[in-house]
Amino acid sequence: MDEPMSERMPVAKEAGLNETGLVVSGLTKVYPGRDEPVLDHVDLVVRPGETVVVMGPSGSGKSTLLRAIDRLVEPDAGEIFWNGVAIHRLKGEALRRYRRQVGYVFQQHSLFEQRTVLGNCTLAPCLWGDEPERSRQRAMAALARVGLADLAHRYPRELSGGERQRVAIARALTVNPKLLLWDEPTASLDPILVGEVMGCLLDLANSRSVAMLVVTHEVRFARRVADRLLFLERGRKVEEGPPGQLLEHPRSEVGRRFCQLLAA
Ligand SMILES: Nc1ncnc2c1ncn2[C@@H]1O[C@H](COP(=O)(O)OP(=O)(O)OP(=O)(O)O)[C@@H](O)[C@H]1O
Ligand SMILES: [Mg+2]
Repeated sequence: MDEPMSERMPVAKEAGLNETGLVVSGLTKVYPGRDEPVLDHVDLVVRPGETVVVMGPSGSGKSTLLRAIDRLVEPDAGEIFWNGVAIHRLKGEALRRYRRQVGYVFQQHSLFEQRTVLGNCTLAPCLWGDEPERSRQRAMAALARVGLADLAHRYPRELSGGERQRVAIARALTVNPKLLLWDEPTASLDPILVGEVMGCLLDLANSRSVAMLVVTHEVRFARRVADRLLFLERGRKVEEGPPGQLLEHPRSEVGRRFCQLLAA
């Protein structure tokens, strides 16, 4: 991203300034009326081509973390850098340019029911100013990537749960993202559909073309492609490391409890 130098803050202590990829430092969010922060000084790095998996109990702040990285939630403290640009300070057009590089698959994927699969996927490119034909090409390319080009003219109600989720993934891919944020992309899918959706994610992770931050409890996915795994508990990062090591020998209490549950 070519930001004017004034967008960058030339302060040496800001660790992310000279880094490529995503650097999150001390990210903290407190919702009014709550005693504890929802995010409490979270640090993480996702370099281009890397996949980082986030696990943690319900309510531990996983979705809030992704939302803060896309600036859908305003953090109270901390810093977010993308390729050296201070994202936590961006406004207006500069924020839009950053968001254009981010693909986000929400926990509750919300397809527009009154639009076809293709119509769902052309929306973002159109919003970003692409001509209709260019938007259509982008959308079809993204749908082909998740194996759904043949279903472009169906409506969401005519799709299975796995297909709907793959449309949500295609929609995130239409903007050619450099940073992909996935929030439990396989939640509430049956095991066959989980395999289908995870296949798409595995291909993307293996292509090493994007930085991926994935909230998922899919242990096999984490083992196969994650460069690092981190556990969140009550807004704090309690552990981080290679997935094999963390899943087999968790050091933290929450890691141990969590791995027992995952293995059960
Ligand atoms: N807008 C909000 N206002 C107040 N509290 C909120 C808000 N959004 C989320 N929370 C609270 O913040 C905490 C973290 O929520 P978050 O959605 O990040 O958790 P999560 O780890 O993604 O959980 P899950 O696994 O259930 O999706 C929860 O206790 C939630 O109730
Ligand atoms: Mg969540």
